[in-house]
Amino acid sequence: MKIIVTGGAGFIGANFVYYELANHPDDEIICYDKLTYAGNLETLKFAETNPHFQFVYGDISSRDEVYKLFEIVAPDIIVNFAAESHVDRSIEDPELFLRTNIIGTSILLDACKKYGIKRYHQVSTDEVYGDLPLDRPDLFFTETTNLHTSSPYSASKASADLLVQAYQRTYKIPATISRCSNNYGPYHFPEKLIPLMIINALHDKNLPVYGTGANVRDWLYVEDHCAAIDLIIRNGKVGEVYNIGGHNEKTNLEVVKTILKILGKSESLIQFVTDRKGHDQRYAIDPAKIERELGWTPKTKFDDGIQKTVAWYLENRAWWEKIISGEYQNYYAKMYGNR
Ligand code: NAD
Ligand code: DAU
Repeated sequence: MKIIVTGGAGFIGANFVYYELANHPDDEIICYDKLTYAGNLETLKFAETNPHFQFVYGDISSRDEVYKLFEIVAPDIIVNFAAESHVDRSIEDPELFLRTNIIGTSILLDACKKYGIKRYHQVSTDEVYGDLPLDRPDLFFTETTNLHTSSPYSASKASADLLVQAYQRTYKIPATISRCSNNYGPYHFPEKLIPLMIINALHDKNLPVYGTGANVRDWLYVEDHCAAIDLIIRNGKVGEVYNIGGHNEKTNLEVVKTILKILGKSESLIQFVTDRKGHDQRYAIDPAKIERELGWTPKTKFDDGIQKTVAWYLENRAWWEKIISGEYQNYYAKMYGNR
């Protein structure tokens, strides 16, 4: 089986490349990535020596490049992780999110229509459902919850989902969609909550918690997300949406305090800063469908996963020190300088 992993040089895509190479050693994995600020070939260095792995540089929103990729590779499966993924950046500048996340998805689907495909899988997000109120812990997102987006990022991801469903119905593209909750683990880009807080704490810098820190996210260890996608592309039913999450809800403040405790740092580093515009209150996934139909269950408990993640950042300083020494400093000053 030849599997193209778009966005495979990013956080979840790279973890998925490693998952596939380890669990399906006979398959060919082709990573297709534009290497934006979030893409990093260092992340794939352990795959590069594997004869079943290949890296192809390219942009999902370039029709010529994508068609050439399909002509050369003739893939059986395409798993689309490629996206602009950070909510705060989408609030600053939405346009690139529309180009990559919507136009890029439509071009991949056009390529599937033109050249044929056994399976197209869209890696989507629970953010397409909007948010849940903090005072209704009985409510969860199911696959039939209405799409109700809050940020330019989530609107672009929801638009892409609608395109996938339209191509599936109209052109019979054999497509599936998964909507996962917040991931954490190795290779997470340090603009996101967990790695940002680990790295700031290691430098004894303030930890910028938006608003009161009461917003709730439903955390899933990245390898559990990869295992779920692997099951969907092999056993999932065409035309279906699968929610992925492990009932692991935490307030942001709980997460930040846990990191400080593991690192032996003081809670006085916490600094409450101006809230994110349109900030979603609570995400919470009901994963009953994928558990029931595909037998998926998460393996890593949050207490173990967060310990492993902090240990990974301590053991892999060179990976993130290189990232934060570059353009990241300008990003940090712009986003947090006067917050
Ligand atoms: P990321 O930002 O770490 O990585 C994105 C990757 O896509 C990078 O390697 C980047 O270079 C590549 N890319 C961006 N634009 C591209 C383009 N035009 N053409 C080709 N490659 C391009 O993102 P992530 O956190 O790994 O998320 C991966 C996917 O999973 C996204 O689609 C995201 O919406 C979805 N998702 C993420 C989470 C999460 O918690 N991180 C949860 C649910 C779903
Ligand atoms: O739910 C899935 C989504 O999770 C994915 O679709 C997105 O790609 C991914 O980035 C993530 O979105 P969030 O906005 O939830 O993740 P982020 O790490 O940016 O923020 C998590 C929470 O922490 C959120 O409530 C905002 C808050 N936060 C974040 C940062 C970066 C802070 O309080 N301070 C910060 O500095």
